[in-house]
Amino acid sequence: MQIGPYCLPNNLFVAPMAGVTDRPFRQLCRRMGAGYAVSEMVTSRKDLWSSLKTSRRANHDGEAGPIAVQIAGTDAAMMAEATRYNIDRGAQIIDINMGCPAKKVCNKWAGSALMQDEPLALQIIEAVIAAAAPHGVPVTLKMRTGWCESEKNALRLSLAAESAGVAMVTVHGRTREQGYKGEAEYATVAAVKAALKIAVVANGDIDSPQKAKQVLALTGADAVMIGRAAQGRPWIFTETAHFLATGESLPAPTVLQARDWLLEHLHDHYSLYGELTGMRTARKHIGWAVAELPGGEEFRQEMNLLESSAAQVKALQAWFDTLAQGYQRLPYLAKPSEARTIAPHECKQLRQQA
Ligand SMILES: Cc1cc2nc3c(=O)[nH]c(=O)nc-3n(C[C@H](O)[C@H](O)[C@H](O)COP(=O)(O)O)c2cc1C
Repeated sequence: MQIGPYCLPNNLFVAPMAGVTDRPFRQLCRRMGAGYAVSEMVTSRKDLWSSLKTSRRANHDGEAGPIAVQIAGTDAAMMAEATRYNIDRGAQIIDINMGCPAKKVCNKWAGSALMQDEPLALQIIEAVIAAAAPHGVPVTLKMRTGWCESEKNALRLSLAAESAGVAMVTVHGRTREQGYKGEAEYATVAAVKAALKIAVVANGDIDSPQKAKQVLALTGADAVMIGRAAQGRPWIFTETAHFLATGESLPAPTVLQARDWLLEHLHDHYSLYGELTGMRTARKHIGWAVAELPGGEEFRQEMNLLESSAAQVKALQAWFDTLAQGYQRLPYLAKPSEARTIAPHECKQLRQQA
């Protein structure tokens, strides 16, 4: 798997998720086997670049390359400037966000809203490529299947993006109008893959090694991108890599392994955000990590009342130590892996379309 000059260790990507895939979480996912991670989106609004939020998002200290930064905006010149700004700060790949409902920039919705205005979307793509090319930085694009069910323009837009010089396209199998409702469909991803020469990444509802394998086979995509399923379960990348290589499922990590990985992540997290913000924003990561474990919901509620990072660490450590007395391996209550594979009728439909 290659993006421009960068050869990736595998084709399992962690999805950019604002408020989740900060540098500590990306590093955790990379340690757990993800071959590639893109930053949370950075706005093209210059007046916000010096804000604490944006500067934390632009922090890549100690991060394994290639450093991929996602930018979001609605104005071609501003996006070109954001490209140069992020390249100056270490970005080796620039990803354009046309995949998630980003905030308004200059009174227009950015992100997936751009799919509704193809000429503007293309103007932005061309401007970003022109700004990145002198630095030898590849530009990638993340999009949805289209604006709404009756206007699925992912194929048209990705062909235009490829002609403009985009190096890789990721498609989340939902329309902008859907938000996160319904199920991701992969027929559009398969159609994009069949038409493009550049790498295509399939994204949406991939929540198990089995599903990753199915989606790769059904779409022919070069890589899969996993978002929500990695929250609290970053070892999904190790599990998926193993399953793809051997066809066998790995057992769940041991309780003590998971405890140590989570504690390491928390320490990284606090050192990026500082005590107060670190302690508050760590709550969601801890909550996800225990969500599917026995007694996890009760622990989450108690942990949310704690007011210091030291208390969080102590509580997490004690909770996992107690869990380890009853179980050697993480005793997941639900097994999402088997619960959400693609239905047989959809497989058939996809094969016919492919
Ligand atoms: C909390 C959250 C934040 C997200 N932020 C971004 C973002 O900054 N940029 C982007 O392109 N997509 C963003 N997404 C969309 C994800 O990258 C991904 O396309 C989507 O979650 C579908 O993949 P999944 O089913 O594996 O989660 C976000 C999703 C979530 C849940």
